[in-house]
Amino acid sequence: MPAVIKLVTSDAQLGQLVRETGVHCSMVSAEALSILAQPGAAQPDVVIVDLRGQAGIPPALALMKRNHPATGALLVATKLDPALMLEAMRAGVNECVTEPVSVSDMQMAIKRLVGNLAPAVQGDTFAFVGAKGGVGATTVAVNTATALARAEPGSTLMVDLNVACGDAAVFLGAEPRFSVMDALENVQRLDRAFFTGLVVRTKSGLDLLGASGRPVTGNFDTARIRTLLDFCSGVNRFTVLDVPRSDTVALDSLDSATKIFLVVNQELATVRTAARMAATLRQRYGQSRLHLVLTRTDRRAEIGHEDVERTVGVEIAHTFPSDYRLALQAMNKGRPLVLDGQHELSKAFTAFVRDLAGVRAPVLKAEKVRVAGIFGRLAPRKA
Ligand SMILES: Nc1ncnc2c1ncn2[C@@H]1O[C@H](COP(=O)(O)OP(=O)(O)OP(=O)(O)O)[C@@H](O)[C@H]1O
Ligand SMILES: [Mg+2]
Repeated sequence: MPAVIKLVTSDAQLGQLVRETGVHCSMVSAEALSILAQPGAAQPDVVIVDLRGQAGIPPALALMKRNHPATGALLVATKLDPALMLEAMRAGVNECVTEPVSVSDMQMAIKRLVGNLAPAVQGDTFAFVGAKGGVGATTVAVNTATALARAEPGSTLMVDLNVACGDAAVFLGAEPRFSVMDALENVQRLDRAFFTGLVVRTKSGLDLLGASGRPVTGNFDTARIRTLLDFCSGVNRFTVLDVPRSDTVALDSLDSATKIFLVVNQELATVRTAARMAATLRQRYGQSRLHLVLTRTDRRAEIGHEDVERTVGVEIAHTFPSDYRLALQAMNKGRPLVLDGQHELSKAFTAFVRDLAGVRAPVLKAEKVRVAGIFGRLAPRKA
C-alpha cells in the first residue's frame, strides 16, 4: 500500500505538490489534528503540518506524537530558525522542509519517514493502446483482464481511461454507477473505502472502473491520472488499462505501467501510425516497457509479421487470430470470449496471460448465445 498522509493545510497547491510525490494525501483541518491526537485514533503514516503563516507548532501535534510516537510528523515552514528547531524537537517532529518547497524535497522527507512501509512488490499494471481506431485494443484489454481475474480471483482491476466514451463496460456486461471521472475528480479522497465504492465487480470477478456516461467536466492533468494509477497499482495485484490512443495526457501518465502494449493489425495505416507511436512511447518510457501485440492476424496479408516488427521497431510479443463473429458475439453478450475457452482466439488470450503473469485462467463451458438478450442491452439501464 502507498503511504497514507494527512496534510494540515488550506493550501491546495501544497496538497497537489504532496500528491505529486506519489503518496495518498488528504487535506485536513487543524481540528482534525486534535482528533488524530486522541489516544486510540486511527493513524496515517505521516502527518504534515503547514506552519507557514502560523504562530508556532500546534499543541495538538505534540500531543499526537506523545500518544502515537510511530506516526511521522513533518513540518512545512517558511524557514527553520533555532527557536523553531528547538520547539519542533520538543514536540517530537521528525522532519522539516522549508520554502521554496519542491516535490523532490518533499519526496525525500516522506521517504525517510515511510521508507520501510513501501510495498516490496507493487502490483503490475498492463496498458493497452490501439495504434488505430477499431484495431481491437479494447477486446485485447478486456479479455486479458478477465483471464487474470479468473486465474486469481479478486486480483484484477480494469480501468477504462477513455474517460467520456469508453466501452469496456459494454464488453463486460456491466453498468457501472460511478466512473473513472469520479475517481479523477476526487483523487485527493482516494482510499480503499472510497475506491471500493467506485468500482463495480463484473460477472467474471473482474473489478471495473468504467468510463463515464456524462460529458467530461474536469481538466484531467497527468498528475491526477498518475495519482489514480499509482493508487490502483498499490491496491491490486494486476491493473489493466484501456488507454485512448489520441489522448496525449493519458499517454503521458503511464509511469506506473509495468508493460505498455501497442495493439496493431496488418494494415498499412495502422503499422505506420504504430511506428510513430512506438517512437514517442519508447522515448517516454523506454524500450523495455514497450511491447507489441498483433491482433486479427491474417496469414495471407501482404504485410507480414516481420514487416510489422521491422517498421515499428518492436518484436511482436503475441498474436491473436481473427474471429470477427466470435468477437462480436462476445461483445453483444457482454461476456468476454476468453471465458469460453475452446476457440482459437480464446486460447490465444489464455496463453497470452500465462506468458504475461504466469497464471492460468480456468476454462468454462461455452454459454449459448441468447440473441434476444441483446435488445435489452441496446440502451443503458436507467439509474
Ligand atoms: N481478434 C479479432 N478478430 C475479429 N474481430 C475482432 C477481433 N478483435 C476485435 N474485433 C472486432 O473489432 C471491432 C473493434 O474492436 P475493439 O472495440 O476492441 O477495438 P478498439 O481498438 O478498442 O476500438 P476503438 O478505437 O473504438 O477504441 C469490434 O467489432 C470487435 O468485435
Ligand atoms: Mg476501444
